Formats: sequence, structure tokens, C-alpha cells
Amino acid sequence: MCDSAADTLRALESVGWPVVIKADGLCSGKGVLVTGSRDEAKGFIESAMERCELGAGGKVMLLEEALRGEELSFIVLADGEHFVPLVAARDHKRALDHDEGPNTGGMGAYSTDRIISADLERQIIDTVVRPTFEGLAADGLTYRGFLYFGLMLTREGPKVLEFNCRLGDPETQALVARMDFDLAEALAATTEGTLNRLQLQWRPGASLCVVMVSGGYPGSYEVGKKIEGLVSAATTPNVAVFHAATEYRGGYYYTCSGRVLGVTATGPTLGAARDAAYEAASKIRFDGARYRRDIGLARTAASVVSGH
Ligand code: GLY
Repeated sequence: MCDSAADTLRALESVGWPVVIKADGLCSGKGVLVTGSRDEAKGFIESAMERCELGAGGKVMLLEEALRGEELSFIVLADGEHFVPLVAARDHKRALDHDEGPNTGGMGAYSTDRIISADLERQIIDTVVRPTFEGLAADGLTYRGFLYFGLMLTREGPKVLEFNCRLGDPETQALVARMDFDLAEALAATTEGTLNRLQLQWRPGASLCVVMVSGGYPGSYEVGKKIEGLVSAATTPNVAVFHAATEYRGGYYYTCSGRVLGVTATGPTLGAARDAAYEAASKIRFDGARYRRDIGLARTAASVVSGH
């Protein structure tokens, strides 16, 4: 962990490449660079630590080993005594198709029954989730709520990239679409320590969320763009459009930040959910609107990333 640009640049001399440079604070999903380029690393460090372009969250940096594999978002609900896993989901963090471009807060996500096998789920619970709760208990901490395990599925097994004390975004949109239980009841059980009495049921099949962003995101972008086509998109069968950065004025919605809408669909297969989500997204227009075209498609190359 380094708290000056000079220290971070010095530490870069003794790491393996590619390297993960990760801000220690919150940076709206922009605080991680995975790179094999010394010039790019230097530029990122100077912009965050000298020019403060990531805000206060970018003033301290961690350098981490880059892991190779497929990412997985594994989220559990815990009531202080018991934990219940949600179905697995996967997000797409890079800004551009084929996992290119800078990291973002998330450009899309999907969930199916088949993302992980029952064996892998058991392995994740036995080697990551349960030891985490045992560690919390050993430290005298009682954890209630959602705990997000950002994992990399490597050849050596699942490895933790990050923990978040919340659901994921946009994984939540994909998960909510598949919930076949009363979320309020599950949250009440979380506060009462009775999660063990609930069986969380999930709709079979798949869900998929495409995030529509402002042109230029995750760099600079303009806001205040009028959004059209929302009703038509939201009435597409099996689709829900989640608003993330919109504001309602004078009878219209306008963009007000980078990740604007989560266009989410369900279907019997991932392909069907994908088709419905993209059909709905194609009906929505705002100046500069952009979204990835490959959410839910197999990655062409193994990802080399760390959580954000
Ligand atoms: N989608 C990643 C996160 O919510 O942290």
C-alpha cells in the first residue's frame, strides 16, 4: 500500500507484470487499472495521486498480483448465525466489447443456473464463504446483510478479488429478475436471525442486464440528455428497465450520471434473455447513449482483472 505517487512508482519496480493498481478508496468503479504497460501505469498513478482525478478515494494505492480466469459474483445473505447463497451472477466490468477498455462500475451482468456447477458452489462455500464468516466470528464480529464475494475462478481454484458489504450493481438487476421469493421476508429474517427457516426459490432459466451509459463514460461525459423510448422498452415482454441515473422533469426523463439504465430481461435460456434485453435497449434513445453488445457472450480471451 502506497500513499504517494513517488512511492507507488518505486514499488512498481519490484512487481510482476501485468500488475493490478487499485485505489484503496471508493472511486465509482474507476479506481482499478490492470496493465502490462509501464507508461499506462505511470499515467494512472499520476492522474490519481498527483492530479487527484479520482477524488479522495484515489490517494492511496495497492499493487496486486493480476489473476487470470473468469470472474464470478457470489453473494450471500447472512443473519449473524446462518448464511444463504444467492444464485451466482457474472458482471462485465470493462467499458468496451471483448473486455477491452477501462474498468467501469459494470456494463452488464447475467445469471443462469449453469454459471457454476454444484461442486464449484460447494468449493466456494467451503474454501471462501465459510472461512470468511468463521474469521468474522473469531474477530467478534456479527455480520448481517448481503456479503458480496468478488471471485476469480483460477486454475488453482476460486480466489477472492474483493468483498463488498452490499449487493452488486448491475448483478442485482439480474438477480432481482430471478427472485421467486419475497425479498422483504428474507430481509426481515436477516434481522431476526431466522434465515435458516427460509428456502430461497429462484426462477429457472436466465436473466441478463445491459447497462446503458452516457457517451464518454467512464471518462468525462455530458448529462441532461432527454431519454426517449422508455415505455416501449419497458413493455417488451419479460423486460424491466431499472433507472440508475435519471431524473424526471416536466414529464420527461433525463440522464444525470454515467450509468443511466439497466435494461434487464429474463428468459428460458441465456440467449432468450439476451435477445429480449437487447431488443428493449434498442428502443431507448438519448444523445450519446452507448452499451456493450456482448453481455452474456463467452469471453474470447481469459480475463486478467482484479475487482474494483
Ligand atoms: N459489479 C461490481 C460491483 O457491484 O462491485
